[in-house]
Amino acid sequence: MRAWKAEQFGEAVNVLAQVDVELPEPDKDSVELQVVTAGVGLPDALMVRGNYPAVQKPPVVPGQEIVGVITRAGANVAEKVGDKVIAMTQFAFGMGGFAERCMAHKGSLYPIPKGMPDEQAAGFFVPYHTAYVGLAQRGELKAGETLLVLGGAGSSGSAAIQLGKALGATVIATASSAGKLDFCKSQGADHTINYRETPIHKAVKEITGGAGVNMVYDPVGGDAYAQSAKAMAQHGRIILIGYSSGEWANVDPLHTVLRSYSVVGAFAGARTREETLQQHAKLSKLFEDGKINVPVDKIFPFDHAPQAIDRVATNKAVGKVIVKVS
Ligand SMILES: NC(=O)c1ccc[n+]([C@@H]2O[C@H](COP(=O)([O-])OP(=O)(O)OC[C@H]3O[C@@H](n4cnc5c(N)ncnc54)[C@H](OP(=O)(O)O)[C@@H]3O)[C@@H](O)[C@H]2O)c1
Repeated sequence: MRAWKAEQFGEAVNVLAQVDVELPEPDKDSVELQVVTAGVGLPDALMVRGNYPAVQKPPVVPGQEIVGVITRAGANVAEKVGDKVIAMTQFAFGMGGFAERCMAHKGSLYPIPKGMPDEQAAGFFVPYHTAYVGLAQRGELKAGETLLVLGGAGSSGSAAIQLGKALGATVIATASSAGKLDFCKSQGADHTINYRETPIHKAVKEITGGAGVNMVYDPVGGDAYAQSAKAMAQHGRIILIGYSSGEWANVDPLHTVLRSYSVVGAFAGARTREETLQQHAKLSKLFEDGKINVPVDKIFPFDHAPQAIDRVATNKAVGKVIVKVS
């Protein structure tokens, strides 16, 4: 089967090549899937660059999340050959989703929400589960609170805008251009900030009448984190998700103490299977009720998977980029 594989780290468009790959027989707890659609995230660009903790050395076959049809199943797997599911792939072992077939552990298979097309389902798990873990589980966002979402036009950010609204918050989103701000509004943001024109804390002060925000959802880090920390209301929570700016948040302990806010890490992978399935059911219901909906940016054919990753890596995407494989 064909897979996009990088033998050395670098930019996806330079180092990924389509090669023939043999997958092993799935062990008793794993499945092989025929990939239908694959979601593209910044982690795919980061792992091909060699800047992602779960992939320490090449070769790399990126692609974290897919929709696929099970083609071979180990003895302990409840799902059957022929079932179509959402899967988190074994990308960390060189068997990611930008390939005609990939592998997944039985604990990484999830039902597709009723009525969700394959193109959306391949971009559902990572952004929406991360938003759920960050906002609801770790941050305990309450209706009526004010939420600031950094990187609002990205895949993590747009999911957090939608889920923040669904949980009853007032949502402020940041982005770098008028077009991206319009997109954030279309996702439900009540207010938007062009961080290239106005420092985030100054804009937040104006929007909230000096009150500040109760929560920050931060997939960006760097300066955006530092400015957002200055926009915190007392007893707020900053949820650390990622580092799309290239730098993680640099937490200032004294500022954290004086303003009395919490800095909270949130990782979608750090949950029990039971918690994850319960949250998947809640998120699926929110989709079925029309409260959340994966915003597909662009669908690329399999042969253009490196260009799909490049679109995310160069900050051109609004919402979720998808690769159609079969
Ligand atoms: N914790 C978890 O479980 C988890 C799960 C998924 C992803 N992540 C992490 O979250 C991060 C984002 O991933 P993603 O897939 O959402 O990326 P994405 O779709 O590329 O979105 C990132 C957004 O960040 C904005 N941005 C980039 N540089 C910025 C800067 N210097 N200042 C302000 N905004 C900036 C970009 O838009 P602008 O044009 O507006 O700048 C872009 O829309 C990555 O580090 C990823 O590894 C973590």
